[in-house]
Amino acid sequence: MSRDRLTAAVAKIAHASNPVSFSGAGLSAESGIATFREGSDEDALWSRFDPQQLASQEGFLAAPETVIDWYNWRRKTLAGAKPNDAHVSLAKQPGWTHITQNVDNLLEQALEITGIDSSPVLHLHGTLLKDHCNAECGYEELIDLHQAPPLRQCNCGGYMRPSVVWFGESLPAQIIQSAVAQAEKTDLMLVVGTSAQVYPAAGLIEIAVSNGAEVIVVNTECHGRTGARVTELVGEAGKLLPELFADSC
Ligand code: OAD
Repeated sequence: MSRDRLTAAVAKIAHASNPVSFSGAGLSAESGIATFREGSDEDALWSRFDPQQLASQEGFLAAPETVIDWYNWRRKTLAGAKPNDAHVSLAKQPGWTHITQNVDNLLEQALEITGIDSSPVLHLHGTLLKDHCNAECGYEELIDLHQAPPLRQCNCGGYMRPSVVWFGESLPAQIIQSAVAQAEKTDLMLVVGTSAQVYPAAGLIEIAVSNGAEVIVVNTECHGRTGARVTELVGEAGKLLPELFADSC
């Protein structure tokens, strides 16, 4: 990666007045959380498991126990994970809004550790830290990641399920509305560790670009996103983000 490109990106960040981050699974990869799709990487979740079975309403109704066990396996991994240098670098920046596709709480943990700012974190795809009733009676429960409960029913008779967005489901309305509003008004979007293949989330990058924002992409794979205001940096977020923010507080 060219040093000039990194220097240019540092300057863009320094001049931003309303910056947002837009992250995906790659942000948490160096914390030991598996990504979903990654070139030929056989460890990526959707190389090993079937999203139709594990991340859809149809799959859940066909085999609810299998689905809950799978999410509880992911919860166990998350319970032992710590924020990495990329989370901490982002968390140290005052005045940023964070939009993420991740269902973990590692960015919130980093914000708590740094204690510098209470920047909002908009979770487009929900969270592993909560369950809700699949029959939509409105009942919700917080989940202890160390002791996630097995398949169980709500008092209304529906099954409880993780509060993550499955394929075919809508994103939480208020969250996506806030994220779109941020993408429309931001002057700099830092895109970290996403394959940008899943819509409507990935559309936020296009919204930012079409509204004149500078876009900096940090990813281990080159996605070939081009444009006068797009800077692509190829490398690990845990290494590149501390360099990008080296001159700020
Ligand atoms: P993906 O797994 O599709 O993409 C992760 C990206 O991060 C890939 O392009 C990797 O090359 C890159 N990457 C891996 N390690 C990295 C590192 N250390 N630093 C920087 N980049 C790294 O994940 P998402 O784009 O988040 O949906 O996937 C979007 C959605 O698809 C997820 O939210 C999930 C999934 O189905 C739901 O759970 C609803």
